[in-house]
Amino acid sequence: MTRPIPFMLALALAAAAATGAQAAGADDPNIKLATSSGCMTCHQVEPGGKGPDGLAPIGPAWKDVSAKYKGQKGAADQLTHTVMTGSNPYDSHWKGKVSGLAMPPNAVAIKEAEAKQLVKWILSLDSAQKS
Ligand code: HEC
Repeated sequence: MTRPIPFMLALALAAAAATGAQAAGADDPNIKLATSSGCMTCHQVEPGGKGPDGLAPIGPAWKDVSAKYKGQKGAADQLTHTVMTGSNPYDSHWKGKVSGLAMPPNAVAIKEAEAKQLVKWILSLDSAQKS
């Protein structure tokens, strides 16, 4: 007896999500939240990762995000807004560095307070890297 295909697909997707989470420390509650909210489909914590075609990753690595916005006033609020409502494809902040054209709105997947928590954690990653 063969298993129905959607079940296999769900398994494969779950396995892919689990691998991504493990690479960055699966016990971190922020990684758990990011994984369950779908962020890790397009993002990685560590720079230098590759996207599905071996090209640039779909979205920027979060340590790169942290380095880019370090010390910028209002960055947390601005980035939380972008996470909730999506990025502007005509004004990409990561043009040439990522293979995704824009980030879709994530408001369907995550609450604003949770997005803010994730963004604060993302912004803290650059200094965490050096300690
Ligand atoms: C479908 C793919 C996709 C998903 C899912 C996704 N992102 Fe993104 N994200 C992107 C892309 C592409 C960019 C680059 C946007 C740009 O070029 O300005 C980006 C950019 C970002 C940035 C930087 C924005 C800026 O203005 O520089 C942050 C922070 C971010 N994402 C956080 C998140 C969080 C948190 C989640 C989960 C709630 C998430 N992303 C889910 C694709 C995605």
